[in-house]
Amino acid sequence: MNYKIGASILNADFLQLGSEISSVISLVDELHLDVMDGVFVENISFGAPVVSGIRAAHPDAIIDTHLMISRPHQFWKDFVDIGSNIVTFHAEATTHGYALLKQLRQAGVAAGVSLNPATDIAALEPVREYIDRVLIMTVEPGFGGQSFEPAMLRKIEFARKMLGDAVDIQVDGGINDRTVAEAKSAGANVFVAGSFIFGAADRADRVAQLRAAISR
Ligand code: DX5
Ligand code: ZN
Repeated sequence: MNYKIGASILNADFLQLGSEISSVISLVDELHLDVMDGVFVENISFGAPVVSGIRAAHPDAIIDTHLMISRPHQFWKDFVDIGSNIVTFHAEATTHGYALLKQLRQAGVAAGVSLNPATDIAALEPVREYIDRVLIMTVEPGFGGQSFEPAMLRKIEFARKMLGDAVDIQVDGGINDRTVAEAKSAGANVFVAGSFIFGAADRADRVAQLRAAISR
């Protein structure tokens, strides 16, 4: 299994975003960029110009764009065109997930679909061959710094059984040195951490704690 850590910049110091990203870029496998529109979630974060600026500054980074927006079918292409490697939309935000998954792959990016805690993974079974990554929200989306929901562990187990090992199962929300191990045991292989990494001055130490917990 290929285990990966993504850093969510949502809890970084936005006034120092360049140096905040530089402080983690060589430590993690992916940059996880949380785009929020204030409609799909109760918060507004940043949009395509910020993602584009990050891409320009870090041409080789793996950019994992998490769209917490309504109408993802209207905006996905912007995030492909500015150089995302992975684009993930929410299953709850569109009735055209099948078409969107196929469009993302055809556009040359990895196709991701995310599920809120209350959304059943079984809804993805009919389109599973079009999915590169399932993002299982382990908090209600919208804000960093929330606590990991343990009930999501059985959803992760179910997802791994349903999807097999070729699909990335990503967890996002409340990941720290303890919950990362629980999520890994349940079957997840991509771990997003925001406040755990950015909440400490020594980011290398925090990422090392995550990697140690994953490799145990
Ligand atoms: C929540 C976002 C997450 C979040 C992670 O809606 O999708 O990526 O910022 O932050 P922590 O790790 O603090 O829960
Ligand atoms: Zn996210």
